[in-house]
Amino acid sequence: MQNFDVVILGAGASGLMCAAQAGKRGRRVVVLDHNTQAGRKVLVSGGGRCNFTNAQLSAGHYLSHNPHFVKSALSRFNQWDFLSLISEYGIKWHEREHGQYFCDESAAQVVDMLLAECRRSSATVMLGTTIHSVERLEDGAFSLHTSRGGYRCRSLVVATGGLSIPPLGASPLGYRIAEQFGLTVRRPSAGLVPLTLQPQDKQRLAPLSGIAVEATVQVEGISFRENVLFTHRGLSGPAILQISNYWQPGQAVTIDWLPSASVDEVIGEAREQQPKQQVKTVLTRLLPARMVAALLPVELLDTQLAQLSRKQVELVFRQLHHWQVTPNGTEGYRTAEVTRGGVDCDGISSKTMECKTVPGLYFVGEVLDVTGWLGGYNLQWAWSSGWCAGQFA
Ligand code: FDA
Repeated sequence: MQNFDVVILGAGASGLMCAAQAGKRGRRVVVLDHNTQAGRKVLVSGGGRCNFTNAQLSAGHYLSHNPHFVKSALSRFNQWDFLSLISEYGIKWHEREHGQYFCDESAAQVVDMLLAECRRSSATVMLGTTIHSVERLEDGAFSLHTSRGGYRCRSLVVATGGLSIPPLGASPLGYRIAEQFGLTVRRPSAGLVPLTLQPQDKQRLAPLSGIAVEATVQVEGISFRENVLFTHRGLSGPAILQISNYWQPGQAVTIDWLPSASVDEVIGEAREQQPKQQVKTVLTRLLPARMVAALLPVELLDTQLAQLSRKQVELVFRQLHHWQVTPNGTEGYRTAEVTRGGVDCDGISSKTMECKTVPGLYFVGEVLDVTGWLGGYNLQWAWSSGWCAGQFA
């Protein structure tokens, strides 16, 4: 049985941050992970450039059943704190649209930095370790049975992340531990994920695969204006990933394909200037021809502007500004960037990340019921929550 002050389950973004912080306080820390490489999700994040935080950080960019939960941690270790940490290590970065910060070179620099921070604070990282069981002993300590033998600790930090992308190491271990200790787990589901279409829509829109256009996508009063990408399975692109965090099965998604124009005005002006022009000539100046052909009936597109009825103009308006589709699902954990739901935050202290009913048990990062928008918010949550737990575990 090896004795540590702190055992952290998961050598990902939040676990490594927590380990370095707890180690700096002189705690004897070990991080256990079943993967053979640390921070695998960080390595693939942001297309390999790691969108590590966002200038516009605020609690409003997160979904949780307890929307106030994130506030304390985000304010105690914020985007500027992380920026100064990576600047200390000489990692170059740049800002992209919507306040997103990316590494100039590679996400591997961020993982190397986290591992260097762990070494500096003498926290040990043990990869390739299978966790068989966790138990609480009578004296309040935790005992773990693993493929590397037994571990005993006063503080156990669960940093095992969500269920997205199993080949990267995702597993439900964190949820199982939470349930074992009587915590509620809010039903997990895929987030920041492409939406799939009903067979008839999929067939109708198949020719559009590869087209990307800026649009406003809306579900139940929440909207995002970014690119939408047609794929051979359905809809993707940043606007769709963002709205997928809010979408529930059975709900319709409404898309404005022309958020910067008013198509009835465009048609009205064109009709005055060139009444003999066909509708398709006007619309294909605004959107790709393949898209126009898929969204509107061919007879209407071939009609001359002067011949268009009010009903037809209304149809064009509806199809281009209020296009509705009811997805039949999402691509699931296979491609989702995050997991919605997770360990209910009501059972966790927002200051320390410690479980209110089980002293010494902590939950950090994506395993909690905290889901960020696309744009560096999920990693920032991992840094902030890991940092906070590291001050107390
Ligand atoms: P994380 O997943 O980082 O770490 C969990 C660790 O626990 C893993 O190392 C895993 O192996 C380990 N583990 C799990 N089960 C275990 C078990 N049974 N036994 C032992 N170990 C176990 N976010 C963002 O802000 N900007 C971005 O650019 C991106 N990009 C991005 C791309 C892709 C493809 C994905 C899948 C995700 C992103 N994200 C992102 C999301 C971001 O990567 C994610 O939210 C954080 O890594 C979560 O940090 P955690 O520490 O909670 O889990």
